[in-house]
Amino acid sequence: MYNFNFQVATKVLFGEGQIKHLGEEIAKYTDKVLLVYGGGSIKRNGIYDSAVEQLKKHKVKVFELSNVDPNPRIESVREGVAICKENSIGGVLAIGGGSSIDCSKVISAGVKYDGDPWDLVVDKSLVKDSIPVFTVLTLAATGSEMNGNAVISNMETNEKIGTYGRCLIPKLSVLDPTYTFSVPARHTAAGTADIISHTFENYFTNVDGGYLQSRMAEAILKTCFHYGPIAYNDPTNYDARANLMWASSWAINGLISAGSANNWSVHPMEHELSAFYDVTHGEGLAILTPHWMRHILSDDTVSKFVEYGVNVWGIDSSLDRFDIANMAIDKTEEFFTKELHIPATLRELNLTNKDFDKMAKKAVQVKGGSIQGFVELHAEDVKKIYEMSL
Ligand code: NZQ
Ligand code: ZN
Repeated sequence: MYNFNFQVATKVLFGEGQIKHLGEEIAKYTDKVLLVYGGGSIKRNGIYDSAVEQLKKHKVKVFELSNVDPNPRIESVREGVAICKENSIGGVLAIGGGSSIDCSKVISAGVKYDGDPWDLVVDKSLVKDSIPVFTVLTLAATGSEMNGNAVISNMETNEKIGTYGRCLIPKLSVLDPTYTFSVPARHTAAGTADIISHTFENYFTNVDGGYLQSRMAEAILKTCFHYGPIAYNDPTNYDARANLMWASSWAINGLISAGSANNWSVHPMEHELSAFYDVTHGEGLAILTPHWMRHILSDDTVSKFVEYGVNVWGIDSSLDRFDIANMAIDKTEEFFTKELHIPATLRELNLTNKDFDKMAKKAVQVKGGSIQGFVELHAEDVKKIYEMSL
């Protein structure tokens, strides 16, 4: 296990009704906030009204940026920064899923930066300061509610890039599982796949010694495999929504990646699917993951797949190592396609192989020439995985 720094600065208010503290908490930081949200789900399910009521009660003036797209665009960030600068706003409140939260984070840093906020996406070393970010989470998926990551797209240049800043970690996140009752089945599935993928990206590591982190990762995986289908089929099941919400935060807040190399594999490949085809993040991950696993399975990696198959899926440890590994991969794929009803192929998301060459080259270029994850991937590996997934 390597040395690590672990600090999560987010105050979490978890559970039904916690929004009642939103106004008093934000008022500790500012009396003017930019409220950032997406296409209107928060108006339909009443969260918008509850939040505004709480803010008014504590005399926090509300400015708004709406229509943040899934796979948030740099244009929305620029608009948000301009509103904040014009009105001397002291904090950004995201109400939504990862898209609204990520957009808010880059807005918050853009307010303290003189140039174009796209610079902050391309070069995270420029993210030095920000105004505070607060979130009310409405979709369990990205973990953005408790980390310093933000992923922004530039559809003109077909780029989707992740940035990071410790200052971007939300100061406050309200996690009310009932706010996810209205998430449609398709996004419940995609969100669950995203949590699973974050866990895999950390679990499949070459760095030995993180025994505790591995067992915690397995607990998160089991939680998703158990509660994902329950939430999918019974959207108002509180325990299912609550467990997925808490799993989402802990899969990617630094806990299970602590002490490991933490180089991700499937996410960089998926980001190109979204950059070129605006694919839903979790669906892209669910399609690519089993093919990535099959592509990298070898004598060098089989023991990690055995650990996964035995500890998470309860496969008989006395079987042949490769049989266990392949069974575990098949079970993973079946979970995504049969339990969560996510399409099995990229073709079903209307992709063709037309851009695979370009996408594969970009996926490795963003990572400095190759994806140095659990197994190093070059452009030809990435292209092969796209082809297997088609
Ligand atoms: O826009 P609205 O109307 O709110 O509808 C959204 C959107 O259409 C809807 N939705 C959200 N909560 C709802 C709801 N509908 C009904 N009821 C609710 N309670 O769901 C749709 C998807 O929302 P979005 O925020 O896009 O989803 P998600 O949370 O999956 O975020 C995806 C983005 O986050 C990035 C992804 O790449 C993608 O851009 N990621 C961010 C990460 C991070 N910051 O750490 C890590 C992830 O790996 C990921 O890359
Ligand atoms: Zn993700």
